[in-house]
Amino acid sequence: MNSIDLFQNPLPRWFKRNPRPTVLIKELQERDRRRMLKHFLGLERADRLLRFGSMLPDELVSDYVNRIDLKRDMVFGVYNRVFQLVAVGHLAFAKTDPDKSAVTDKENVAEFGVSVSRSVRGMGVGSKLFERAAIHCRNNDVDTLYMHCLSSNQTMMHIARKAGMAIQRDYGEADAYLKLSPPNPGSMLQEAVEEQFATIDYTLKANTRAAVKWLDRLPGRKPR
Ligand SMILES: CC(C)(COP(=O)(O)OP(=O)(O)OC[C@H]1O[C@@H](n2cnc3c(N)ncnc32)[C@H](O)[C@@H]1OP(=O)(O)O)[C@@H](O)C(=O)NCCC(=O)NCCS
Repeated sequence: MNSIDLFQNPLPRWFKRNPRPTVLIKELQERDRRRMLKHFLGLERADRLLRFGSMLPDELVSDYVNRIDLKRDMVFGVYNRVFQLVAVGHLAFAKTDPDKSAVTDKENVAEFGVSVSRSVRGMGVGSKLFERAAIHCRNNDVDTLYMHCLSSNQTMMHIARKAGMAIQRDYGEADAYLKLSPPNPGSMLQEAVEEQFATIDYTLKANTRAAVKWLDRLPGRKPR
């Protein structure tokens, strides 16, 4: 039985059509770097392997986070209700390799890496991060989005295929790339509106978190 059927009064039709929760994707800044590290270190061993392609020790994960160039790259994140970073997508930009000039005539290409905490998997968060990365590329004159992952990674392969990515496999690893259409007023507006909503949500959650911490410091209160 579908959980929706448990309700005596049927839920509205729009909810049945789209039962996944709304996912708000936020562009991460310098102040989020500590939480990015916490997110990566919190991934299970198998997930860390899938995310980085090898079982990086904590120090190398920390190096990776510290070396993310937030002026050049874009990092997107999803915060849960209690202001924990539960998903991170890193969109890294690089100059187009001359060997790949048949794939694109643009100056830059982008590569995307993503991880979603187990507590929020299967709710469309990974797909939404991917979609946001693609729209950001379109709006920034990048028409080729690469993804590099193990070909045993069925979930990511599914997301890539769903997005229409061309996938090339080589010795257990898979390189996939997606050709993107040029920007239009709709793609520009979509990205701006999504970021606005996510910023409001982020501010509310950050302020609530700060208020809870402050209350916890009051004499006689037990910390949560
Ligand atoms: C890959 C990952 C980001 C997906 O995140 P997610 O939020 O669970 O993804 P979504 O909910 O958006 O989508 C999952 C899709 O995969 C499908 N799926 C899940 N398990 C699957 C499997 N074993 N085989 C095929 N498809 C599968 C789901 O049905 C869903 O499809 P749908 O949207 O068409 O219904 C997450 O599992 C993760 O962080 N994995 C570890 C790190 C990693 O693998 N990163 C990718 C390499 S960079």
